[in-house]
Amino acid sequence: MADPYPLCYLNSRYLPLQEARVSPLDRGFLFADGVYEVVPVHRHRAYRLREHLERLDRSLAAIRLAPPLDHAQWAAIIGRLVDEGRDAEQLVYMQVTRGAESARNHLFPKGVAPTVFAYSAPFPAPSAQSLERGLAVSVLEDTRWARCDIKSIALLPNVLLRQQAQDAGADEALLVRDGQVMEGSSSSVFVCRGDRIATPPNSHSILPGTTRDALLELVDWLVTEIRPVAQAELGQADEIWIGSAGRGVLPVTSLDGRPVGKGRPGPHWRRARETWQRHLDAIAATPPL
Ligand code: PDD
Repeated sequence: MADPYPLCYLNSRYLPLQEARVSPLDRGFLFADGVYEVVPVHRHRAYRLREHLERLDRSLAAIRLAPPLDHAQWAAIIGRLVDEGRDAEQLVYMQVTRGAESARNHLFPKGVAPTVFAYSAPFPAPSAQSLERGLAVSVLEDTRWARCDIKSIALLPNVLLRQQAQDAGADEALLVRDGQVMEGSSSSVFVCRGDRIATPPNSHSILPGTTRDALLELVDWLVTEIRPVAQAELGQADEIWIGSAGRGVLPVTSLDGRPVGKGRPGPHWRRARETWQRHLDAIAATPPL
């Protein structure tokens, strides 16, 4: 994310991000005991906010943490941060941890308030190069845990995989498990062949992507297939895309140094991107929730 705006939200208060403090005994710090969301703001409007908040509720339920705020309260916080940020295109980060207790204990503490944090930053617009030439991706073995559907702040495997890809000159790591494609280290994946687009089904092995759901609704000229995608299909694809709240939809044109399709962003991706932009314009004046 780009450098954040100065104001943040922490535990019922708005304050300068520079002055925000949490305890070193916070369970987010000690155990990565928390969950998060990243909500894109397009045309001043939080995009798919309901879906993001529902996913946050599912992540909280999965780690047995009661929702600290309801959707209207989150919408008000996000609205305030977005107003402060002013830019039409932003990226909001939200995090809830199990809070700080007086000593380090593995077991859930009793009577401890969760730590609730949010801030916004300018949306990191994709570079001209990534739009014109597409992204390079490394295919790597998925080393994450067995509950990738939880948007947990425990992102060390994702961080290591992304860095490994970067060290190999790639922009993203595409993760495979037992010969099946899962997702990117921080993105969903789409594989196009002919007039078909395939993406792996939701399971405990992937994060149910909000961008992915939106995109599948928009590409109505393609036959959409939500099904297991074999690693071998990557080599036969005409186009591969990745999608996430923070990157939108981007074309992958190189896979472990070999070209995808013609090695250039493909026509379906171009059409999907234009369709996406028109869709964002069309819903700009509608309420976010
Ligand atoms: N990541 N898969 C993983 C592992 C992700 O981390 C993300 C998003 C996605 C795409 O989900 P969505 O379309 O709802 O953003 C899929 C966020 C952006 C992040 O960690 O920064």
